[in-house]
Amino acid sequence: MTQQEKVTSGFEVAFGHQPDFIVRAPGRVNLIGEHTDYNDGFVLPCAIQYATLVAVSARADDKVVVSALDYDGQTDEFVLSEQIVPQENKLWANYVRGVVTELQKRGHQLKGCNLAITGNVPQGAGLSSSAALEVGIGYAFDQLCQLNIDKADIALIGQAAENNFVGCACGIMDQLISACGREQMAIGIDCRTLGLTEVSIPSGMTIMMINSNVKRGLVDSEYNTRRAQCEQAAAHFGVSHLRDVTVAVFEMKKDQLDPVVAKRAEHVVYENKRTVDAMKAFNKGDIVKISQLMAASHASMRDLFEITTKEIDYLVELIDGVLQDKGGVRMTGGGFGGCVVALVPEAMVDEISKLIEDNYQADTGLKETIYISGPMAGVDTLALEMA
Ligand code: GLA
Repeated sequence: MTQQEKVTSGFEVAFGHQPDFIVRAPGRVNLIGEHTDYNDGFVLPCAIQYATLVAVSARADDKVVVSALDYDGQTDEFVLSEQIVPQENKLWANYVRGVVTELQKRGHQLKGCNLAITGNVPQGAGLSSSAALEVGIGYAFDQLCQLNIDKADIALIGQAAENNFVGCACGIMDQLISACGREQMAIGIDCRTLGLTEVSIPSGMTIMMINSNVKRGLVDSEYNTRRAQCEQAAAHFGVSHLRDVTVAVFEMKKDQLDPVVAKRAEHVVYENKRTVDAMKAFNKGDIVKISQLMAASHASMRDLFEITTKEIDYLVELIDGVLQDKGGVRMTGGGFGGCVVALVPEAMVDEISKLIEDNYQADTGLKETIYISGPMAGVDTLALEMA
């Protein structure tokens, strides 16, 4: 059964009629530029083929009724004209409630609706299943109520929902690429201006994502701590965000910083530069340079930002051992587990998959999952398939 068939039939079982339309919002993989987004810096993600689907129909009243197909059809229900509060025992529901709250805060007039949700973005894998859900819900209401919200604003609404309702102080990267991804293109994002630059993937290269399946604990608290440390460093340099600290200024003034804060800032300052350099290297097809930049990004996440795990480091070393300068590999996403991203010559995909299958579980006790995806388009509605 396709995802579309699943969401359509799940919707029909939950609500007894066909949906009016279906929204599809993708997850993402970040090629380079980690923990730079909330520092107003640069990132280089692309949307992937794994996505969240939301089937929608209008209701005559002002209720929102949600069926979560991946959670055994658990439901949530709330009334648009009453205050919407977080649910303590149904965390998935807070993404929907949060987006609705943020839309209302901005004065958008919403209509009641039935929603059924399913997705195949692996959860807790650093591939942004939450952002896909937020963007999917935002776009569903945009289409249902003909709000004509700019896609970048839908991303900002999703981010605000996560910041204010879910409690993770995330940046804008994940929601923005889910909203604005382009087929076959990675997108360089300037997270200060939200300017988007299309960046090509060198021909003959495949994007592999290898999920370590390390269950990510404490993610939000560690993430929020890193963000606070970056803000502390920015204040030391007398700027609003670390984006404004050049490598030269950093090197001159780093000694006066608390040593841990200095390490965090060093990661961000150099990662920004690496990301800008990577955009050029990708466009030029300079694989050797990409390889170096991705390796340096990983080492920096491991040693300075301290967000990798031993299983993730193991995967990166294993893959790097055979890939060498024929491609690049690094952890992707917020950290503390999740996925490694590898840019691999098509002809080496099988060899690398086999290498991981033969070694990872034997050496770590965890079984990997491997995904492959080229860059995909951002959120959109799907043409309804007639039964
Ligand atoms: C998570 C956040 C993003 C970004 C990355 C790290 O995915 O949601 O905003 O900060 O971590 O690059």
